[in-house]
Amino acid sequence: MQTSLGFVAWGVRLALFLGPIACNAGEEDRWKDLTAEEIGDAGKGAQIFRDNRCVECHSFEGEGGSDAPPLDFMKGKMSARDVADMTGTLWNHIPHMIPAFEAEQIPYPTFEEGEMADLIAYLHGGSGAAADSTAPAGHEGGADVPVEALGDPSNGRRLFDDKKCSECHSYGGMGGEDAPSFDDMAGHLSAREVADMGGRMWSSFPEMLMHFEEEGVEVPTFAPGEAADLLAYLHGGPMP
Ligand code: HEC
Ligand code: HEC
Repeated sequence: MQTSLGFVAWGVRLALFLGPIACNAGEEDRWKDLTAEEIGDAGKGAQIFRDNRCVECHSFEGEGGSDAPPLDFMKGKMSARDVADMTGTLWNHIPHMIPAFEAEQIPYPTFEEGEMADLIAYLHGGSGAAADSTAPAGHEGGADVPVEALGDPSNGRRLFDDKKCSECHSYGGMGGEDAPSFDDMAGHLSAREVADMGGRMWSSFPEMLMHFEEEGVEVPTFAPGEAADLLAYLHGGPMP
């Protein structure tokens, strides 16, 4: 009896000790598992996937073309960091996708504000999310994601130079003037706004490529996690 009571007492002490740790972990985990709705309107995203003709080359959940890799690998990647890092995946493949669009005579689509976030809500959340989504089309914002949940902004600051973005774009008063400044991204930290960055990049890519050629700048690629770090910097705000 004595021993088992001793165990109970230890159990209580352990619970008191671990309780706060568990709570902190809960707060961090919050950003590891976003709902599709926090990112966008998955129903609208499903429509965009068809209207923009992604479906003609890519399949998702078993439906669509087979000229390009299936996009199911995104499904279930619901952390804020994964969502941010999608911009890098798109970036790496767009230069190879543009010739495919030309070959298939599919017009290269551009994205209105919010549309890429809706598409990402669909591709990351799955068609189940589309069925459940009650979010109105183009719904705004949401809670700010902590910068650390996106990535490492100091590394992002370094990547802004290393990946040559700063040769044409400026941020916080530093960088080139040939391309739009990124200042307006600072402080836009909802999951939806972070996801949508990929759409701005996508829409400008063909134009951007011509500038890369003109300036003789090699198109950089992003290793996993790097785009998320860059977005942590650009959305988090300039650093000294
Ligand atoms: C004309 C055909 C075509 C269309 C239409 C198309 N893609 Fe692609 N996509 C490709 C090809 C080809 C690749 C592989 C490129 C490479 O090897 O880098 C690719 C690669 C990708 C990748 C990277 C896949 C991976 O395995 O990492 C993503 C993400 C992607 N496309 C998204 C889209 C989205 C979103 C749309 C619609 C807005 C779209 N694509 C429309 C041809 C297409
Ligand atoms: C050689 C010059 C050049 C480099 C280097 C460059 N860009 Fe661009 N970028 C442009 C130009 C020019 C535009 C505007 C294109 C247009 O008018 O649509 C642009 C547009 C953009 C946009 C859309 C801007 C907006 O306001 O919607 C994003 C996002 C972007 N670039 C991201 C990047 C990132 C990230 C890097 C570094 C990895 C980078 N760019 C490197 C020239 C460049």
